[in-house]
Amino acid sequence: MSERAGVWVAPSILAADFTRLGEEIRAVEEAGADVLHVDVMDGHFVPNLSIGLPVVAAARRATSLVVDTHLMIRNADRYVERYAEAGSDWISVHVEACDHLDRVIAQIRAAGAKPGAVLNPHTPETTLEYVLDELHYVLIMSVNPGFGGQRFLPSVLPKIERLKERIVARGLTTLIEVDGGIGPETAGRVVAAGADVLVAGSAVFGTPDYRAAVAGIRAAGAA
Ligand code: DX5
Ligand code: ZN
Repeated sequence: MSERAGVWVAPSILAADFTRLGEEIRAVEEAGADVLHVDVMDGHFVPNLSIGLPVVAAARRATSLVVDTHLMIRNADRYVERYAEAGSDWISVHVEACDHLDRVIAQIRAAGAKPGAVLNPHTPETTLEYVLDELHYVLIMSVNPGFGGQRFLPSVLPKIERLKERIVARGLTTLIEVDGGIGPETAGRVVAAGADVLVAGSAVFGTPDYRAAVAGIRAAGAA
């Protein structure tokens, strides 16, 4: 993790050119990214399939960035150890997809990764009240998960604010990551609401100049 103050930018490889994945990952690292976000989808919890363990392992070999694995899968308890072993530094699981969230968080930590919990747009932050102190981060979805390139949902802004208030009130250091539709136009609002880490897929990989894209998102977040 970069020691840089201010917001962290986490490009999502879902929008990268998979024929040149290693180069793409090295390019965003060079461009000043802080975290590499990897979206794993199972075609059940979300209506799309993406990538899995071999790609996480390949990403790990390609970069020294924090590898942040976002599991959009059911039965995460069966897989978290293997995602940690494949080289994920952070692993997040969806509240909506875990029957025993507290147990899965403990499994992630025991496997040597930092645990995160993810909230879909309709899921209130209050659902995390009794696990918040176990979490390294909370990932707030600002689109319905499953696809890149969707429009940011401003309805999640009050949720980010309430979660931030709760984290501060409890004296915790839990990070807030926001994912979906983030770019220079939306970064300012989510950071003002309390976000620490911004995931951006199309707003980075969909542009010709990754350095400018990362810097643009970071600057918008700082404004
Ligand atoms: C959506 C994924 C996101 C996605 C973001 O389900 O979790 O990480 O890659 O893509 P953009 O930034 O294009 O909305
Ligand atoms: Zn994601």
